[in-house]
Amino acid sequence: MEFHWLLFTFFIFQALIISQISILCTANTKLFREYIGAEFKDVKFSDVPINPNVDFHFILSFAIDYDTSTSPSPTNGKFNVFWDSTNLSPSHVSSIKSKHPNVKVAISLGGYTVGSQFAYFKPSSVRSWVSNAVTSLTSIIKKYNLDGIDIDYEHFQADPQTFSESIGLLIKTLKRNKVISFASIAPYADNEVQRQYLALWNKYGDIIDYVNFQFYAYDKGTTIPQFLSYFNNQSSNYNGGKVLVSFQSDVRRGLTPEDGFFDACNMLKSQQRLHGIFVWSADDSKADGFIYEKQSQEILD
Ligand SMILES: *[C@@H]1O[C@H](CO)[C@@H](O)[C@H](O)[C@H]1NC(C)=O
Repeated sequence: MEFHWLLFTFFIFQALIISQISILCTANTKLFREYIGAEFKDVKFSDVPINPNVDFHFILSFAIDYDTSTSPSPTNGKFNVFWDSTNLSPSHVSSIKSKHPNVKVAISLGGYTVGSQFAYFKPSSVRSWVSNAVTSLTSIIKKYNLDGIDIDYEHFQADPQTFSESIGLLIKTLKRNKVISFASIAPYADNEVQRQYLALWNKYGDIIDYVNFQFYAYDKGTTIPQFLSYFNNQSSNYNGGKVLVSFQSDVRRGLTPEDGFFDACNMLKSQQRLHGIFVWSADDSKADGFIYEKQSQEILD
């Protein structure tokens, strides 16, 4: 008899936890994020329209663990600034944050290229990479008064276990030291990229706050139903994660704002599954006056 009661209580308890978890995962989030600074087109934080009713993250692109010579080489976790730091300096960060209390600023690590070559994730060992990364990033983050990091390596000279341990320990240490308050990852649909990021997610998903999935890396001509099925697939791959939707403001690929991106956002919103929108990138959007940034934030508001 007592055993049955225990079992019964246990099941009720489990049912409560499961319903709590599904409530957590099925809520819209008013989060807008935008990459900035990779293309040296003189874009400033103050150029970008900021809706006071959303949480707004600028993501500086990029900090890379390569040296800054004319033909950059890997530095095993010693990060340098590779974004347009003339227009996006520490004083620009403090000024935009003091004018807009809803703004936070992050840095993205890695990126597609450095100079004219691929930017590789290429650690000598997990321990040495993490140690160098914690030291160099802590100094950059404090100097610029930043709030979070984004992981955007897209080329690898390391196996998924090395990637996952290095990045997992980096995020864990920076959070424990209160250097950052949030972390995101930026995978896209490519076999090797997914193999690396899913290994990281499966071990360290609980300390990763957002998944900036690069939906714009899908083919040109993506339809709304295709987009929604990609969203479903990636939400189940990054199970329990806040998977954000995204578009790119220069090249027309994936599902574009012109072809129904915002209709797809509204559908997800009505299902309580819109966890936020991010854009690549402010550098390119400047030319058209940030019209789609305004629209994105109105949908989230
Ligand atoms: C779903 O994601 C997996 C893992 O990346 C991939 O192998 C598969 O092709 C995807 N399926 C669809 C329909 O996109």
